[in-house]
Amino acid sequence: MNLDSKTLHDRDIEHNIHFLTDLKRHQLIGPTVITRGEGIRVFDEKGNGFIDTVSGLWSAALGFDNERLAKAAYQQLRQLPFYHLFNHKSHPNVIELAERLKSIAPVPMSKVLFQCSGSEAIDTACKLIWYYYKSIGNPEKRKIIGRKGSYHGATVAAASLSGETQIHRDFNLPLYPFIHTSFPHFSREAEEHESEEQFSSRMAYELEQLILAENPDHCAAFFAEPVQISAGVIIPPDRYFKKIQKILRKYDLLFVVDEVATGFGRTGKMWGSEIYGLNPDMLICAKALTASFMPVSALLVNEKIYQSMLAESEKSGVFSHGFTYGAHPVGTAVALETLKIFAEQEIIEHVQLICPIFQEYMKKLEEHPLVGEVTGLGLMGGLEIVRDKKSRTFFDSKLKVTRLIEEQSFKRGLIVRGMGERIALAPPLITSEKELIEIFQRFTAALDETYSEISTPTL
Ligand SMILES: Cc1ncc(COP(=O)(O)O)c(C=O)c1O
Repeated sequence: MNLDSKTLHDRDIEHNIHFLTDLKRHQLIGPTVITRGEGIRVFDEKGNGFIDTVSGLWSAALGFDNERLAKAAYQQLRQLPFYHLFNHKSHPNVIELAERLKSIAPVPMSKVLFQCSGSEAIDTACKLIWYYYKSIGNPEKRKIIGRKGSYHGATVAAASLSGETQIHRDFNLPLYPFIHTSFPHFSREAEEHESEEQFSSRMAYELEQLILAENPDHCAAFFAEPVQISAGVIIPPDRYFKKIQKILRKYDLLFVVDEVATGFGRTGKMWGSEIYGLNPDMLICAKALTASFMPVSALLVNEKIYQSMLAESEKSGVFSHGFTYGAHPVGTAVALETLKIFAEQEIIEHVQLICPIFQEYMKKLEEHPLVGEVTGLGLMGGLEIVRDKKSRTFFDSKLKVTRLIEEQSFKRGLIVRGMGERIALAPPLITSEKELIEIFQRFTAALDETYSEISTPTL
């Protein structure tokens, strides 16, 4: 058969495997083929427009077209399309970008390592933790603690570190030595009569018990995202991180903060770390670093980590780690231009102006019969979808209510993201007030329609 006579839709079904997708269902319904973007909208091959209320994957901070970023990439492609950082080589963009990231980091950082994805940066951080303890003569300190409900990526280490049961179950993970502490979702996990602060104290206590059970001499580090986005935007309870960091100091654990989704203004500040007073030894960022126009992630390490790297690499004469495309000249050119746009167009100031309106609309949804809880910070929010508002019991999972809401939203030209029993919204940081009104009108209509669909008895 002539390839051209087949639609993109059919060719996709024939040739592609999709991420986080029901593969069997995909054979039946196929893809939405997105062919172009404009502002906060994307368009399919038939010309239908959709507002993407999750910025692609929490990442297209500046929307889906930008002349300056396109030019930055093109100019770099003309000048030096590829070079690397192996064996003492460098290029101007990576030098400037490392300087720039250090200058805006929430705490003093010493050096920057570049990769292409959040997952790769997580993997690099895990390796550096082991490198660090080996360097200081403590190689048995190897266990790395993640949190239930967290997501840190899809590579073997990042998936092991993540705390989602499905990821583990499906792939026979986690690998040793990744272990997990409690999920700090106050409204779901708190005991009766426990205040938010008491709950945080218990979370810290449970972390301490885990460290003691696993032997403090074997526990190396703790990873956390400032806000647990993949769990549906779970905001840390009162004083949670203060208490957690105290335990980390007590048992001498390194602290790695994953700002892959929260970095660069999503929370209303440059970093979520600023909001919660986090003091990481390493910080990871990606996604909005290039507004997602190019795949770049960065791992910032403090002086303590860097000194251990110097000492350890001196022993063998090489730091045996690197990625061909890490610190890519085109990616770093786009990252530099993105950060210039953030500063010149006052993107974070815009988020600060617009986010109270966004949060007010989110909060209003709490009145909806389908909504049990609304959580949010900055320009992101999560809705819990329930069968009964009072008891907050969930629907039978076979009903797939969050999928129905996604579908109803889609019919109205809106892309929203179902995450288990929750729906997340995180529109591009450039979203205007007028566009917010449009988003919430369409989304409320989608919720209403879903509610009437599931409330209508089938004949
Ligand atoms: C908090 C967090 N960390 C890490 C990752 C993994 O990043 P990537 O998909 O670029 O590997 C993600 C991806 O969504 C994320 O949200």
